[in-house]
Amino acid sequence: MRDAIRSYSEEQTRALGERIGRKLAGGDILALRGDLGAGKTCLVKGIARGLGIPEEEVVSPTYTLIHEILGSLRLFHIDLYRIEGLDDLENIGFYEAFEKDAVTVIEWPDRFLEWLPEPYLMVELERFSEGGREFKFRFRGKRFQGLIEALRKEVSDGA
Ligand SMILES: Nc1ncnc2c1ncn2[C@@H]1O[C@H](COP(=O)(O)OP(=O)(O)OP(=O)(O)O)[C@@H](O)[C@H]1O
Ligand SMILES: [Mg+2]
Repeated sequence: MRDAIRSYSEEQTRALGERIGRKLAGGDILALRGDLGAGKTCLVKGIARGLGIPEEEVVSPTYTLIHEILGSLRLFHIDLYRIEGLDDLENIGFYEAFEKDAVTVIEWPDRFLEWLPEPYLMVELERFSEGGREFKFRFRGKRFQGLIEALRKEVSDGA
């Protein structure tokens, strides 16, 4: 595993999300793993920006659980924190996400990883100080490898 990418503010996390969002294509799936307040929803706001969606449209999907947002690509923003079991998954329309012309981003994926279609990009967020967050990426396949390499290059170039 190579070095993690670090962010020192909410805005930096959004900017990182925006860089990721600009590289996404229909059918891409991202799983965001990290504690409460790690910055998952903040990253999704940036991803939305990168997809040409106003970030205000991204809300913490505490009650809605799945939030479908229309943009150049649709964005399914899913939060599985309150989901208990597979019946609940079906009820919230989980299996209707993952469409070819949509990007799907999932907070709290841990208990449901085996129901996620492969390949997906796993982003692990960790808080290392009040305003500091570390991002690690895990994935299979060439597509995400290329995407993360491009992202690392941009971040190190400050492009
Ligand atoms: N570098 C940073 N990146 C992102 N958020 C940060 C950062 N520094 C501080 N914060 C704060 O951390 C909080 C992150 O909240 P956010 O809703 O994105 O977390 P979350 O991981 O989605 O939590 P939850 O599991 O409750 O959904 C915000 O209050 C934000 O202001
Ligand atoms: Mg959240």
